[in-house]
Amino acid sequence: MSQWQELQPTDIIVFGGTGDLSKRKILPAFYHRLREGQLPDSSRIIILGRAQKTEAEHQHFLREACETFIPEHELNEKDYAFLAQRVFYHSLDAKKIEDFKSLAAILDKNARPQRMFYLATPADIYGDICEKLHDAGVTTADSRVVLEKPIGYGLDSFRAINESVLRFFTEQQIYRIDHYLGKETVQNLMVLRFTNNVFHRLWNGDVVDHVQITVAESTGLENRHAYYDEAGALRDMVQNHLLQLLCLIAMEPPNDVTPDAIRDEKLKVLRALRPFSTATAGLDSVRGQYKAGSIGGKQIDDYTHEMGIADSDTETFVAFKAHVDNWRWAGVPFYVRTGKSMTKRYSEIVVQFKEVPHHIFADRPDDVCNRLVIRLQPDEYIQFQMMTKIPGPGGYRFKPVKLNLSLTEEFEERYPDAYERLLMDVVRGNQTLFMRSDEVEAAWLWIETLLDGWKNGAQKVIPYPAGSEGPEHAALLLARDGRAWHKISKGIK
Ligand code: BG6
Repeated sequence: MSQWQELQPTDIIVFGGTGDLSKRKILPAFYHRLREGQLPDSSRIIILGRAQKTEAEHQHFLREACETFIPEHELNEKDYAFLAQRVFYHSLDAKKIEDFKSLAAILDKNARPQRMFYLATPADIYGDICEKLHDAGVTTADSRVVLEKPIGYGLDSFRAINESVLRFFTEQQIYRIDHYLGKETVQNLMVLRFTNNVFHRLWNGDVVDHVQITVAESTGLENRHAYYDEAGALRDMVQNHLLQLLCLIAMEPPNDVTPDAIRDEKLKVLRALRPFSTATAGLDSVRGQYKAGSIGGKQIDDYTHEMGIADSDTETFVAFKAHVDNWRWAGVPFYVRTGKSMTKRYSEIVVQFKEVPHHIFADRPDDVCNRLVIRLQPDEYIQFQMMTKIPGPGGYRFKPVKLNLSLTEEFEERYPDAYERLLMDVVRGNQTLFMRSDEVEAAWLWIETLLDGWKNGAQKVIPYPAGSEGPEHAALLLARDGRAWHKISKGIK
């Protein structure tokens, strides 16, 4: 049962506050939480940006962000005014200590100890920001700092950035955000697995044939060209979101839902991932890059044309076969894929069970297995495939049928955006859905085995047309094992 907790009024300070993430996610999240009366009224949100702004310019920015990123039917003047009275702008250059001192003066006016510093900036300046916050006397014992992913470009840079933040904040004050963990359907994975006894004895290599994890996006670069060309799909999506999904599927039951109990179990999965070698990276992974194509009737240009560069070896698609080397999952491959500019936006996890050990019916269709499909977005549902007899005389004829549970139909509640849940968890001081330092480190360590495999094997990107399911090689990855990706369904039926 959830427990009621009295929340402290909080000053929320957003570095990179005029950027895309702030407009798309952070400000709308606060609009909703204030509207629900969850965030104490006297909390303040201070947006930081380099430019000097008049009050009218700030108001214009806030209104535009809300009108663009909050659905029309959820935005009303009364609630908007409530938000606007609590959002302030402060001009700050992250290189200038004087600007931090003037921030300190604003914050000290209320002398409110609970402060949330949200760093929505490139990760390489996290350490500098933390140092200046400390030197200007802005941090308090009750302060928390939120770090956006990806933290670093690899293991070494993660460690350097992490250490630079740990000089000024304790691990208990650091919230490494992975917004996938805040999604309702992702949290539901824990409930599905650990409250339904029926799965308890089925969730292992005796019964499970393989697992598929797909996060397909139909969007492309979305104004983040420079960042994306440096990062690529592996660092942008797999190192964090997809590995977290894999952990939630593969982990052992934690003893309880305290932050460390859960994070300890996820860490064990990350450490059990079989490292890639140059040979296995070449065989078991595919890198792709989208070329011109069309998505929903819209023409999409080549990735490199969108970037405005002649050539790039950055992957916008990645697929691989992973193994979790432990007792539970020995012999069970995890097939994982994600990509930009694919045919449709959808994320799902498929747990495919083994066929029965001996078929007593001669006439069986091809797709004879049981399969659990967990659709995470955009249409949230759980589907279980079973075999049934087609009614009528004339012997046994079979058909796979689906038991459907539509979560959106079952619950009429609005599905809050992941950031709403996560930002409130920071205010509450609950680190359960945030990544601990050793988790991020273990994820980088494993990701680097694949990056090294690609580098040493000079593994190039394979083109795929925008609006497709990625390069055909990704299908071969499974076909070679006598398997196939679960077909993209149009919805629950
Ligand atoms: C972000 C990535 O973390 O997640 C983006 O940086 C990606 O590239 C996004 O588009 C996907 O999130 P969602 O919630 O839309 O699936």
